Amino acid sequence: MKNHDIKFTLNGEQVALSVEPSDVLLDVLRGRLGIKSPKVGCDRGDCGTCTVLLNGKTIRSCLALAVEADGTEIVTLEGANTTRKWTQKLQKKFHEKNAFQCGFCAPGVILSATELLEKNPKASKHDIKEAIAGNLCRCTGYEPIVEAIEETVKGK
Ligand code: FES
Ligand code: FES
Repeated sequence: MKNHDIKFTLNGEQVALSVEPSDVLLDVLRGRLGIKSPKVGCDRGDCGTCTVLLNGKTIRSCLALAVEADGTEIVTLEGANTTRKWTQKLQKKFHEKNAFQCGFCAPGVILSATELLEKNPKASKHDIKEAIAGNLCRCTGYEPIVEAIEETVKGK
């Protein structure tokens, strides 16, 4: 099958590469571009560990083809944690509260919360639960995660 030449911005840097039509974005990010924060979890859209921001909106990179990234801006946790105010605040709060355990879900949760707080800096507990509903966490029971996001909203 014929390869496609694509270009996109990845964490503020221009990337150009040739991909096959069936190449999955998650695999290209991790395998070819060395971006390891999006994790391979279920690999079928259920767990949210592969979450990245595409043009400011969260997507599951295991369900996206690399060709769909052409002309877009992609931000992963590696970029968000240096450029996005809410990501930085969230990471600090999660760290202070030890809100994660194994951390496998962390990049996806933090990017989902970043997207929420960029849209709605006064998000309620209900908004928070809704925003992270697609990010599965096997360790925490979610309570510390929700609390950390709530405290970030309140600036505590
Ligand atoms: S690995 Fe993409 S949703 Fe689970
Ligand atoms: S902290 Fe382990 S999966 Fe969430």
